[in-house]
Amino acid sequence: MSQHLQHDVLVIGSGAAGLTLALTLPDNLRIAVLSKGELANGSTYWAQGGVAAVLDHSDTIDSHVDDTLNAGAGLCREDAVRFTVEHSREAIQWLIEQGVPFTRDDGDHEDGGFDFHLTREGGHSHRRIIHAADATGAAIFNTLLERTRQRSNVELLEQRAAVDLITERKLGREGRRCLGAYVLNRMTGEVDTHHARFVILATGGAAKVYLYTSNPDGACGDGIAMAWRAGCRVGNLEFNQFHPTCLYHPQAKSFLITEALRGEGALLRLPNGERFMPRFDPREELAPRDIVARAIDHEMKRLGIDCVYLDISHKPAEFVKNHFPTVYQRCLEFGIDITQQPIPVVPAAHYTCGGVVVDQAGRSDVEGLYAIGETSFTGLHGANRMASNSLLECFVYARSAAADIVANLHRVTMPTDLPSWDASQVTDSDEDVIIAHNWDELRRFMWDYVGIVRTTKRLQRAQHRVRLLLDEIDEFYSNYKVSRDLIELRNLAQVAELMILSAMERKESRGLHYTLDYPDLLPEALDTILQPANADD
Ligand code: FAD
Ligand code: SIN
Repeated sequence: MSQHLQHDVLVIGSGAAGLTLALTLPDNLRIAVLSKGELANGSTYWAQGGVAAVLDHSDTIDSHVDDTLNAGAGLCREDAVRFTVEHSREAIQWLIEQGVPFTRDDGDHEDGGFDFHLTREGGHSHRRIIHAADATGAAIFNTLLERTRQRSNVELLEQRAAVDLITERKLGREGRRCLGAYVLNRMTGEVDTHHARFVILATGGAAKVYLYTSNPDGACGDGIAMAWRAGCRVGNLEFNQFHPTCLYHPQAKSFLITEALRGEGALLRLPNGERFMPRFDPREELAPRDIVARAIDHEMKRLGIDCVYLDISHKPAEFVKNHFPTVYQRCLEFGIDITQQPIPVVPAAHYTCGGVVVDQAGRSDVEGLYAIGETSFTGLHGANRMASNSLLECFVYARSAAADIVANLHRVTMPTDLPSWDASQVTDSDEDVIIAHNWDELRRFMWDYVGIVRTTKRLQRAQHRVRLLLDEIDEFYSNYKVSRDLIELRNLAQVAELMILSAMERKESRGLHYTLDYPDLLPEALDTILQPANADD
């Protein structure tokens, strides 16, 4: 039997953004935090490098702002950048108070009096990345989860996959408020109806739309697709960030080699040992990610090679093992001793810079619906996210969304009369092979046609194919019971179409969007904002 559940706040997603929001809200609110798999399944757990913030006395807010604007290739919204950076110190202070075990300073460089070790990454002109060795995400996630478990007002619900949002407009009622969500309970196989006064999308990014990605399996853009279907605008979805250095090994499923290695002196080399980054950018290995990934892609295509190499073997072995224990261990499992040998690396899809359009409180176009973390588009990242600004965005916007919810609590009552999910017209699928096939096809053509270097023709091919897939998926969705695979495929295909449309609209090359047909920068930097046909005016 499907259930009806009521919470003041329904948080869809249990990563950095979702858990921070749940912990920041007052404990007299009933809160549900959903994860479509296990709670640790989001990208947060896998984050390596750290969180960017102005912490060192010799660093300044203006410097962090300028670096972010530079990396963003003229497209960041300066107010969003300034807002985020100005709140960075208090966000880190809050994490320290929660008990996150950040690495302490061991005195191997000048930190201007700050107690914690700060590392560097591409695009940053200062050491400003606070981290827990090279497993920062796990340290943050474990701490926030433990804190959340101590809160009796928060229910952590695993194996719950949100299918769609419930809005007044969809129910044909007056107004345009979000009232809750339909959620597949994967333990019972039923779709439950979640009623909520406020709904938060904290569902992470969509890098799984590409064949090769650093992201875990669930990064399917569910929140972006659900928000789009609910009538929200989405922004800048053409800017897919490819991380320059993922481990290249047949048995390694997209293991990231943190940019902090380059921050601590690792060099990129061709198979013959020659360095190539000095030919591409004066910042060399610490140029912003779009430049480094494109340089690697260029060299791989020019020389017909399968990978390039990242070399930190010139640093003392103890230093490497202390700073990068996770990378050291993982590479060793594949027979690569990084203190002695260079690491074979390739770029892979890593981060979705665009997403659901929100304001500084994380509010979307639909009343009562917020989007925070990687699923949102705040204007912070512009055409290229600077390293370690994304976890920062999760904390800053989760905290401002929580404050906004508290300020508006008195105006919103619990929606009561919501219809149950109607499964009367659908049957069990006997054609799951179609889902698997469509899933592979989508991710392959997105990699080939909407990748690091694009052309109009390739985008048109991708658009043609995604439309065929969307038709097939629609038919499947109308006739068969929903499963997690079907929900994800439907959302991935939807987000892929929005990415292609956004890429086709941009008639220039800027940041992460590089097309051979429009190699130049236009004089004016404009966001690509798409509005669904069903949106209210
Ligand atoms: P996530 O942590 O991805 O969590 C998403 C949550 O939503 C999950 O709980 C998932 O189960 C849930 N969910 C999704 N869809 C549904 C649905 N339909 N129903 C129910 N639940 C759903 N950024 C940095 O700033 N610094 C770093 O060092 C860094 N390193 C990284 C390393 C790796 C390998 C990766 C992949 C990313 C890294 N990033 C880093 C990026 C950063 O980790 C992410 O952008 C950030 O963690 C996203 O957090 P989030 O809370 O928005 O989403
Ligand atoms: C990394 O550690 O290289 C990832 C940092 C990020 O994605 O911000």
